[in-house]
Amino acid sequence: MSTPRHFLDLDRVAAAELRRMLDMGAAYKAGRLNGKPAAGKFLAMIFEKPSTRTRVSFEVAMKQLGGDVVVLDEKGSQVGRGETWADTARVMSRYVDAVMVRTGRAANLDELAAHAEVPVINGLTDHSHPCQLMADIMTLEERLGPAKDKIVAWSGDGNNVANSWIHAAVRFDFMLRVACPESLRPPKKLLDWAAREGGKVSVTEDAQEAAASADCIVTDTWVSMGNGDAEKRHNLLAPYRVDEKLMARAKSSAIFMHCLPAKRGLEVTAGVIDGPQSAVWDEAENRLHAQKGILAWCLG
Ligand code: CP
Ligand code: NVA
Repeated sequence: MSTPRHFLDLDRVAAAELRRMLDMGAAYKAGRLNGKPAAGKFLAMIFEKPSTRTRVSFEVAMKQLGGDVVVLDEKGSQVGRGETWADTARVMSRYVDAVMVRTGRAANLDELAAHAEVPVINGLTDHSHPCQLMADIMTLEERLGPAKDKIVAWSGDGNNVANSWIHAAVRFDFMLRVACPESLRPPKKLLDWAAREGGKVSVTEDAQEAAASADCIVTDTWVSMGNGDAEKRHNLLAPYRVDEKLMARAKSSAIFMHCLPAKRGLEVTAGVIDGPQSAVWDEAENRLHAQKGILAWCLG
């Protein structure tokens, strides 16, 4: 049995393959590609955490590619009662052609992938959110041209989405400046990986410095799913709010991105997210198109 084409993280797929997926996604979006690589195929989606975009965009993408989906949540599956991810993988492989999972521990995803005979797609863990980044790079390039050598500033929590931005900066060769409190920095292991790969990734506690002349400013919620210490996080992250003053530090052509869901008045002001520089609705739409590229690649 050959290893299935898993989509687990951007650091685990070659840059050329990621580019191929984005090109396919863009071709589907433009109507240049109309194939049905999912015809007669099923995608199972396992959600241990809530979702609006990932849930709907994967279902629509799969159906538009000719396939269908089966959705399981924690309460509705035996995973929630302790069936192992390995056994779940073995069983799923007998029914469906690919599995997408949203879970907390990245180790669950790895266990699923290690025992699955069909492709496994990471729909978010506490460590990363690679599908989001494929849509984000598609959006950045639609608005600003090739990602290579662009300057992206992250201002906020060094969370799962920030981690995937670090992977993306290395794979798509752009400069990423992460501004976050010392205690919420991305993992050292990840930053060391980026440095070893020759990535242009830096970390600072100064959001104003990170945003200077940036092409894109990006942030995310201050309290991710599973985070308990909301009040402490709000206090720590207040200086990293993306407001009009921070946007003014960036290039006049700069865009604002956010994976959503957003809390207006916390990580971003309403003026920015609802303003002319915001690309968030295209970004959300591009989940659908980028995931068609991912699905087509995984399903071969
Ligand atoms: N951005 C994102 O993944 O949104 P959902 O949690 O709604 O899927
Ligand atoms: N960082 C957020 C992303 C939601 C799509 C979370 O994990 O809750």
